[in-house]
Amino acid sequence: MIYPVILCGGSGTRLWPLSRKGFPKQFSRLTDPKQSLFEATLARLKGADFAEPLVVTGPDFRFLVAEQMQAAEATGQILLEPAARNTAPAILAAVLHLARKDPQALVLVAPSDHVIPDTAAFQTAVRSGVPAAEAGQIVTFGITPTAPETGYGWLECAGAGSKGPVPLKRFVEKPDAARAAEMLAAGHFLWNAGIFLFRADVLRKAFEDHAPQMIVPVENALSDAVTDLDFLRLAATPWEAVAADSIDYAVMERADNLTVVPFSAGWNDLGSWSAVADEMAGDSNGVVAFGAVTAIDCKDSLLRSEAPGLELVGIGLDNLIAVAMPDAVLVADRSRAQDVKLAVDTLRARG
Ligand code: GDD
Ligand code: MG
Repeated sequence: MIYPVILCGGSGTRLWPLSRKGFPKQFSRLTDPKQSLFEATLARLKGADFAEPLVVTGPDFRFLVAEQMQAAEATGQILLEPAARNTAPAILAAVLHLARKDPQALVLVAPSDHVIPDTAAFQTAVRSGVPAAEAGQIVTFGITPTAPETGYGWLECAGAGSKGPVPLKRFVEKPDAARAAEMLAAGHFLWNAGIFLFRADVLRKAFEDHAPQMIVPVENALSDAVTDLDFLRLAATPWEAVAADSIDYAVMERADNLTVVPFSAGWNDLGSWSAVADEMAGDSNGVVAFGAVTAIDCKDSLLRSEAPGLELVGIGLDNLIAVAMPDAVLVADRSRAQDVKLAVDTLRARG
């Protein structure tokens, strides 16, 4: 049995104005008008060998999570973090909770905000990692890189072009541009998909070795946790004492028992509006239209209206992103998609 842990607490800013602090992208129907990214994640983790998921999120999102789980016909517990502390404490809390029932439980950690169109291929890849995980490895999933991305983790494989699980030589989280370019050129690196498979006791040991300071406060937050319907609310005082860190920096970069399963069936973490446009089928001119939109003589552009009664019209646009919400409109050159984060910082600073 595989125990899915779904990370649902992040609040990305690069998809502003759709993704907001109170409504992050995983809850929105970003690329599929029928289901949100989180609902699609729930569907991807269903099957005979998957247990009910454990969803880890913040109190602000608890009703959104519960509603969307109901819509996706998924049942499972929801672990509530009193404050966001990034992925390392979130994963540790989930793992220690699952380990109470079965210390050797096989855990699959998955982000809630990715697109993986081929569920069968994804589940096959996960299953192919099970023997290595059972043998004490932390299994990662590797995507063939196509650009010198600085926002991803990079996985150095023993050799290029392997199809099955291979030992990992090194895990490099979020390199600078020069390093990313080198790794792309080297040819034997993959992107970290952000999905991990391991035995609960193996991850606990990895924290003992590489981030031991997190264990006692997270254990205390769990032992004083309060159950309320499907919610398990971690105790605030010990939890807030934990320093924020990502699993990638706290554990993965330091661990020496890593394996990678190459995954080539399609994966997109929708990290920018440009990535969203890439993921959606545009028309023959490369125009991606969503909502009440009219595009005249436009090409290679994304036009999206989410404001009721608001028609968005583009004429002669080339390589542009236009996203209209009821209270904010973004118009940007597509090559500046990453800079949307700067806009959010500027607006926040202004208050
Ligand atoms: N519960 C909870 N609490 N979830 C969180 C928190 C938190 O404090 N912070 C982030 N998450 C969730 C996000 O919602 C997302 O689903 C997932 O954890 C990963 O967090 P991100 O903040 O999106 O990480 P990243 O994109 O910078 O980097 C990770 O993913 C890349 C691939 O998309 C790393 O694992 C990289 O190595 C990887 O390449
Ligand atoms: Mg991400």
